Amino acid sequence: MNNLEPQLQEIKEQINQYITSCDNQQCINLFNSLPFGKMLRSQLILKIAGITDESLKLCAIVEMIHTSSLLHDDVIDKANTRRGKVTINAKFGDKISILLGDMLYSIAFSQLALMNQNIAYIIANAVTQLSIGEIMDIELTNTFNTSYDKYYEMIYKKTGTLIEASSKAAAILASKDSEKYALFGRNLGLAFQMIDDILDITQDSSALGKPSMFDFIDGKVTIPYLLLYERTENKDKLKSLFKKPLNKKDILWIKQEMKKSKALEDSILQANYLGQKALEALKGEDNIFLEELINSMLQRTF
Ligand code: FPP
Ligand code: MG
Repeated sequence: MNNLEPQLQEIKEQINQYITSCDNQQCINLFNSLPFGKMLRSQLILKIAGITDESLKLCAIVEMIHTSSLLHDDVIDKANTRRGKVTINAKFGDKISILLGDMLYSIAFSQLALMNQNIAYIIANAVTQLSIGEIMDIELTNTFNTSYDKYYEMIYKKTGTLIEASSKAAAILASKDSEKYALFGRNLGLAFQMIDDILDITQDSSALGKPSMFDFIDGKVTIPYLLLYERTENKDKLKSLFKKPLNKKDILWIKQEMKKSKALEDSILQANYLGQKALEALKGEDNIFLEELINSMLQRTF
C-alpha cells in the first residue's frame, strides 16, 4: 500500500486547505491535533478509480465524513483515546468534539454538492444510514442482544455503508460496474467491523489505544459474544458480566470459554468468509491490488 503514500499525503493537504480557508485559528489547531488512520476508504477509492482530481476530491470528502463520524462516536462512547492519542472530547470536551465534527461534515457536504449528482446522492445516503447504524448500536446496548441479524444490520449500517458507497462512487468515476463494486465494498465493510470487534478481545490495551474487552463492558454484544452465548452452557454467568467492569478472573473466564466453544475462531472465519465474498464480487475485474488491501485488512492487528 506504500505506493499510495504521496496521494494520501495530497488528500491530507487538500483537507488542510479546506480547513485553513475557513479562517479560524482554533479550528485549524484542533484539526492539526487529529491523528489520521490508515485511510482505508481513500486507498479503496484510488485503487478502484485511479488517481485523478475527482477521485482525490472524493477521498478528501469521504475522509472528512469518516473523521467527523469518529469525533461524534468518541463522544457517544466516552472514549479517551483514539489511534493511541488522547481524543478531542477528552482533551477539549464533548461540545468541541461535536462541533469540530459538524464543521468537517459540512465542509465535506459543500464539496460533495459540487460533484456528480449520482455520487453526491450515494455518499449522502450512506451518511444517513451511518447515523441510523449508530443509533441502532446505542439501542442494542440497552439489553443483552442475542440476535445475529440485528448485529449484522447494525454493523452494515454503521460501517459497511460508507465503505460500500465509497467503492460504488469510485466505480462510477471510473465507469466500472458500480453494483459489483458496491457488493465488494459492502462485504469488505462487514468484514472490517467484525475484525474491529474481534481485536477488542484479542489485542491488549496498548495496541488498541483503549481498554481491552471494552465493547462488552460498554454493552456491545459483538459477534464473538453472540457465538459464545449461543454455545456456552453458562449463559447466566455470561449475562451477569454484561455491562459490568470486568476483573482479571472474569476476563480469563470469557477468554477460556471463547476458546473452548471456538466462538473467537469462528468469528475470525466469518470475517474471512466475508472478505472472500468481497473478492468474489469482483470476479472478472482486475483486482490484484484490492486483494492485497483485503488481506492486509484481515490480518491487521490494530
Ligand atoms: C465507530 O464504531 C463508529 C462508526 C463507524 C460510525 C459513527 C457514526 C456516527 C456517529 C453517525 C454520525 C455521522 C456523522 C458523519 C456526523 P465503534 O465505536 O464500534 O468503533 P471504534 O472502536 O473505532 O470507536
Ligand atoms: Mg467507538
